[in-house]
Amino acid sequence: MHGEVAISGAKNAVLPIMAATLLTSEPCLIRRVPDLSDVRFMTQILTWLGAEVKSEGDTVRVRAKKIKGAGDYDLVRKMRGSICIMGPLLGRLHDVKVSLPGGCVIGARPINLHLKGLQSLGAKVTIENGYVHAKAKRLVGSAMFLGGRSGSTVLGTANVMMAAVLAEGVTVIESAACEPEVTDLAHFLNAMGAKISGIGSPTLTITGVKQLHGAEHEVIPDRIEAATYAIAAAVTNGEVTLRGARADHMHAVLDKLKDSGVTTHCNEKGISVKRNGRLKPVDITTLPYSGFPTDAQAQMMALMIMTPGISIITERIFESRFMHVSELSRLGADIEIEGPSAIVKGGKPLSGAPVMASDLRASAALVIAGLAARGNTQVNRVYHLDRGYENIDVKLRKLGARIERIEES
Ligand code: EPU
Repeated sequence: MHGEVAISGAKNAVLPIMAATLLTSEPCLIRRVPDLSDVRFMTQILTWLGAEVKSEGDTVRVRAKKIKGAGDYDLVRKMRGSICIMGPLLGRLHDVKVSLPGGCVIGARPINLHLKGLQSLGAKVTIENGYVHAKAKRLVGSAMFLGGRSGSTVLGTANVMMAAVLAEGVTVIESAACEPEVTDLAHFLNAMGAKISGIGSPTLTITGVKQLHGAEHEVIPDRIEAATYAIAAAVTNGEVTLRGARADHMHAVLDKLKDSGVTTHCNEKGISVKRNGRLKPVDITTLPYSGFPTDAQAQMMALMIMTPGISIITERIFESRFMHVSELSRLGADIEIEGPSAIVKGGKPLSGAPVMASDLRASAALVIAGLAARGNTQVNRVYHLDRGYENIDVKLRKLGARIERIEES
């Protein structure tokens, strides 16, 4: 693959930022919004709640002038990311009822830390008939520790932060998530008049304000999309420029690519990626930011199966995020799972086959492996890909990949 690819706005930043617009009755304008099915779904949720949402190109305007109070929001079950409407609705209306998200193919995905944080602010939380109901006469700032068994929580931090901006007094969140997407949300909230300090660190201090106002914001580029194209370039022995990608959000991925024998070069355009001769095996462990992201783990496995020698992946964030292994094996990969680790014996020839996508990042790994395999690979259930990659087939084709989308009849 050769050429330049434009990196879109980050899915995991834009979803909570869209939810944050519920905190004010004034208009908000969000730029660099990717065209993804998850974004369209969040638009549906905001509209259902009573907000006016208008999209024009990659700009979205939201005005949540009058929104619904507690209602039965069953929509949350369909997209886990929509749990982040809970914090802003509690902050603005003091009453919210949403369906519990439940588990998914990558793991159990509990929300105990979200609830712990909201309870610390004074919310009464009850769980009944599959719904979580959070209610508060007053929200009052407090000090809390939001670390869990796998470290910090991304959407848990987002939810508590969004409720705390309108609480009385000061909230201190210890073990807050430091992911760039959480930082981006904090910057948007401050642009709306919130008072958040410690942004990007594990200690966030939030001084509550009476109300927020409208704001404009440009979403950060998607570091996981950028990592996916970087890995695809490495797998295909190519040279690709990731236009707009931010190296300061991608240290762990770029470092492992370098160890794998891939040269990366950062300039004002973005990041250029070029395979530098033979690939070398590496070991990775997924961790909260600034560690190696779990969302790039499956794609990295696609690189490892092309690399002669033994590479090991240890997944520390989600307990069952190895659904791609059996499908990669159908292409000829030799991978063994040992507890939280996958042992990849790379360098075996791959040949194309029909494979089934199980989740968003697993689908990306199957596409990357399909680019390297001899013959045709058919990836089924590509709706998973459309949740988080904007025009992936178009972008890959522009870079020289032979890929086409077959509409299901
Ligand atoms: N956890 C708890 N209790 C909680 C919340 C989380 O124990 O209340 C645990 C989880 O089970 C997991 C760990 O904490 O073991 C981290 O989960 P986290 O809450 O950080 O995940 P999330 O906020 O639900 C977001 C992204 C995921 C990404 C993770 C980790 C969005 C919409 N989703 O999920 O993105 O994998 O952070 O970085 O922001 C993806 O884009 O493919 C994706 C799955």
